Parts: sequence; structure tokens; C-alpha cells
Amino acid sequence: MRTQQGKKGSNGSELKVLVRHRAIQRRISQMANEIARDFPGERVHLIGVLKGACIFLSDLIREIKLDVSIDFMAVSSYGKSKESSGQVRLNKDLDTSIAGLNVILVEDILDTGLTVSYLCRILRERRPKTLRIAALLDKPSRRIKNIQGDYVGFKISNEFVVGYGLDYGERYRNLKDVCVLKSHVEGI
Ligand code: PRP
Repeated sequence: MRTQQGKKGSNGSELKVLVRHRAIQRRISQMANEIARDFPGERVHLIGVLKGACIFLSDLIREIKLDVSIDFMAVSSYGKSKESSGQVRLNKDLDTSIAGLNVILVEDILDTGLTVSYLCRILRERRPKTLRIAALLDKPSRRIKNIQGDYVGFKISNEFVVGYGLDYGERYRNLKDVCVLKSHVEGI
């Protein structure tokens, strides 16, 4: 449920690299090793939250040296203001049951925590064997809900980031680096 307050458009905006592709790849490989260490000889079921997590998930699964399966969910927020409503709606549910599985919810970014908090609540009701959270980026300063990632790539400060799956108005998801989107326009 990321928002960029006051952002008026992409004209006059500037991208500054925050995390380079190579550093992302290195960290993902470490995260995959942590996961493999935590579930030796077991299967893990990764659930990607569309759309932002798709790039991270696709790189992460290829580094995990375990039996891995995947599924996806999609959510959006209720009402006009994502931040103020704090309510999340499920737009796409899982294709299969997660009962008895080692589930890892995969996010590109933990921001307010509203999305993951909502998803964890409904996933727990489905009786997975374990439920963990993997996030490439974590912005703890923005947190509203008391949730933490079990596997976190990079903690970042409160700047609006795009690239590597993260968008602004559906743009920039294809950037290989995670970049800060800054505007040249004063007061935005
Ligand atoms: C982003 C991101 C997370 C969520 C994190 O999704 O991908 O799912 O916001 O924010 P939160 O911690 O404040 O809930 P977004 O709603 O922008 O959709 P997208 O994944 O399709 O870009």
C-alpha cells in the first residue's frame, strides 16, 4: 500500500540508484541460503504478492536449493486513501491449499505493514505448518502494524523507491537497480 504523498507526475523526476543489481543478487543468494538452512530437506511454498514481488520471487526461488513450489495473491486497498483506510481487499486468492506447508510470504517491500498483516491473518487460518515473511526491502520507520520480516534484504530509510518490481504509476518495475525517485519540482 505504498503511496508517495504529493507526487504529481513523472515529468521532471530523477532516479538515483539506492541498491545496485549486483548487491541485490548477492543478498538474495544469502537469503536463499538462510531459507535452505531453516528448512533442511523440506519443501517450501512461496507466495508472491502481486505485482511488486514478482521479480524478487523469480530470482529468489532460483537460488533456493530445496523443493520449492509457488503461488500468488493480489490485494488492493479499500476506499480512496490507502494509508488512511488501512483496509485491504483480496483480489486474487491462492490456487491451492497451504495446509501443512512451510509457507513463505514474499514481498518486495514492507512499508506500513498493512498488506502483510492482513495476508498473514488470512493465511494462518488455513493452517500452514509454518508461516514466514521474506521481503527484499524494509522501511521500519513507516510501520503501522507490528510485523517483522523473517528474511529481509535491505533496511532502507523513508524514501520513495522504484525498480526491481516496485513501481510509481506502474512504471519503473523493470529497472534492475532499486532507485530513489526524486522530483525536481519544488514542494513535491
Ligand atoms: C506495495 C508493495 C507491497 C505493499 C507494501 O504494493 O508491493 O505489497 O505496497 O505496503 P504496506 O506495507 O504499506 O502494505 P502496491 O499496493 O503498491 O501494489 P503493487 O505490488 O502492485 O505495486
